[in-house]
Amino acid sequence: MIVAGVMSGTSADGINVALVQIEGGLGRAETTAKATAAPHRFPQFKFLAHAEYPYPKNVRRAVLAAMNASQARVADLARLNFLLAELYAKAVLVTQRQFRIKVELAGCHGQTLYHQGKLAPFLGFKLAATWQMGEGAALAARLGVPVVSDFRPADIARGGQGAPLVPFFDYLLYRDNRIGRIVQNIGGIANLTAIPRSASPEQVLAFDTGPGNMVIDAVTEQRFGKPYDRDGTIAASGTVLETVVNQELRAPFFRHKPPKTAGREEFGREFVREFLKHCGRAESRDVVATATALAARSIADALNRFVIRRRGPFSEMIVSGGGTKNSTLLAMLAEAITPLGLQLRSSDEFGLPSEAKEAAAFALLAYQTWNRQPSNVPSATGAKSAAILGKISYA
Ligand SMILES: Nc1ncnc2c1ncn2[C@@H]1O[C@H](COP(=O)(O)OP(=O)(O)O)[C@@H](O)[C@H]1O
Ligand SMILES: [Mg+2]
Repeated sequence: MIVAGVMSGTSADGINVALVQIEGGLGRAETTAKATAAPHRFPQFKFLAHAEYPYPKNVRRAVLAAMNASQARVADLARLNFLLAELYAKAVLVTQRQFRIKVELAGCHGQTLYHQGKLAPFLGFKLAATWQMGEGAALAARLGVPVVSDFRPADIARGGQGAPLVPFFDYLLYRDNRIGRIVQNIGGIANLTAIPRSASPEQVLAFDTGPGNMVIDAVTEQRFGKPYDRDGTIAASGTVLETVVNQELRAPFFRHKPPKTAGREEFGREFVREFLKHCGRAESRDVVATATALAARSIADALNRFVIRRRGPFSEMIVSGGGTKNSTLLAMLAEAITPLGLQLRSSDEFGLPSEAKEAAAFALLAYQTWNRQPSNVPSATGAKSAAILGKISYA
């Protein structure tokens, strides 16, 4: 079956569409209650095509404003939910036409406006909460095929953090009987999936390591008026403030044991304000270099603290996400992980363009759901049980 995956991440840069072919791998259709974490057979996955569509500037601004809850109006949020669906639909339709491929099902992650994976008190209750926008019913109507959306709540409902959800996909594609692999995505937030050699799904460890591009983007915007540090050229011209990097790495988030998730709530405005304060009067290019080093070092630091010693050895790190376009970040990452015995490889080397990975993952999750199969990895999210994720909208 041909499936479209649609992803728009916390960077709020735009929409990634992946078209993939997925066949087989289905056990008995099971009810949620009886579903097990490890399907006996796995689907066959083939990547077909990928395209990327930046959000129009005013939409990006509206999305970022909506994430900043104190400034959001409920009418605008309701409208944004439908507007995003229109943009997602257009993105899929254009991609289909461009590659002359017709999809039969779509999986849409949506735009996260709020994510709080851990329980916190609210009105006398203790709750975790998550909210992704992009109305599935509108998308299904435009595409003329069923759409699976809103993947995270089912995991939260089982005591999980609702993230990360990509490990199911990582496990399917990158598990190996000879070597342990780290699958590292660098979007706005950076997250990893650690797959030990010959691992069963329960042995997979996955969590958010901290900022990916989010802090780099914010300081580049503030100091240079540009949305991101293209190819990492600004960072390459600066000097890293080592004391600031070390100081930031002592922040509670980095010390917390996984499972853990992060978003703009952790590494958005507040964090950036403090970060800039710590940088003091440093030159702007040094500030960008330091934000870039923080992204690289926080990944290596997380591996060192929580992964290598417990689940090692690992010999490869496969990177994906927009951060792979930042060559300074990649160079810093390679330097930071070499002492851990890891060699850096790109998702592209495995036949999947690094920008397409997360979108492709949500195509796979949609396929699972459509076939009544679970796709969270409880060891990664902390959920008490496996869950069939998402909500289906029929065309
Ligand atoms: N040419 C480039 N040079 C440097 N950074 C880039 C480049 N292209 C994309 N990026 C970075 O990648 C980010 C988007 O990555 P993406 O994987 O889409 O993240 P998200 O999932 O959070 O949307 C941009 O915000 C930017 O920081
Ligand atoms: Mg993006």
